Amino acid sequence: MGLLMLLLVVAAAASAPAADAWGKEGHYMTCKIADNFLTEEAAAAVKGLLPAWANGELAEACSWADSQRFRYKWSSPLHFADTPGDCEFSYARDCHDTKGEKDRCVVGAINNYTAALKDSSSPYDPTESLMFLAHFVGDVHQPLHCGHADDLGGNTIIVHWYTRKGNLHHVWDVSVIETAMKDFYDNDQATMIEAIQRNITDVWSNEEKQWEACRLRTKTCAETYAKESALLACDAYEGVEQDITLGDDYFFKALPVVEKRIAQGGVRLAAILNRIFGEKNGRVQSS
Ligand SMILES: *[C@@H]1O[C@H](CO)[C@@H](O)[C@H](O)[C@H]1NC(C)=O
Ligand SMILES: *[C@@H]1O[C@H](CO)[C@@H](O)[C@H](O)[C@H]1NC(C)=O
Repeated sequence: MGLLMLLLVVAAAASAPAADAWGKEGHYMTCKIADNFLTEEAAAAVKGLLPAWANGELAEACSWADSQRFRYKWSSPLHFADTPGDCEFSYARDCHDTKGEKDRCVVGAINNYTAALKDSSSPYDPTESLMFLAHFVGDVHQPLHCGHADDLGGNTIIVHWYTRKGNLHHVWDVSVIETAMKDFYDNDQATMIEAIQRNITDVWSNEEKQWEACRLRTKTCAETYAKESALLACDAYEGVEQDITLGDDYFFKALPVVEKRIAQGGVRLAAILNRIFGEKNGRVQSS
């Protein structure tokens, strides 16, 4: 590879995180599932905060944060929380941006926007806080958003997804979902969402309550979700090297993980929103 070519590849890889995050579909499905678990109060509060262009649909606003990464450059590090690669996430060690500024990672951002929505005197725009929160709860569940810092969460690991060239991060954001939609769901997002939802009420019904549980009073449990992702990321890297071709074997291992993470993201986003707007409501009623 010539030096110029190498520089171009490195530059492209370095800028890749700015374009990626669970793809549009992953975020849409996470938020659609969240919809099913919102209390009436929370659903009404969410509707009231959504921008007009979302047509009253939370899912429509769940990729907004990706479209703002260039306008709001400061928000870019808030989409992920990379680790040194030991299969663990530690808030104190890992939640910072590349300049070392603390709290600037996806877990810090989830806590930030949850606190902002709870506090009616917060200076932050509540519509933006809601859209950031809904997006970042999705992101923290994507294993490669808690991947290894060295390879930018898999962005610099070039792989071939069947015959198409991409990178490992993109495989987890987009390709696994796209292939599943094509192979199993008639290219219909609604069918895939239904299948995941059916699993939540069926095979995962016992786990579902645990997914929701969070004893912390002042913060969210996003740190726990990042720890789970960091562990899953280690599996995702296993056996993957530069320029490898990933096909059926990898796909059939990754797909159940992706579907479960979308389910967990949706259930937990709803739980967070229910806590935020339930409390607010309670305060209003008791005063
Ligand atoms: C918290 O939210 C504000 C408003 O969007 C933003 O300026 C700040 O960078 C955020 N910090 C974190 C850690 O998310
Ligand atoms: C449903 O759960 C089963 C058993 O865990 C799993 O194999 C399957 O991939 C899941 N399907 C979806 C759509 O989540």
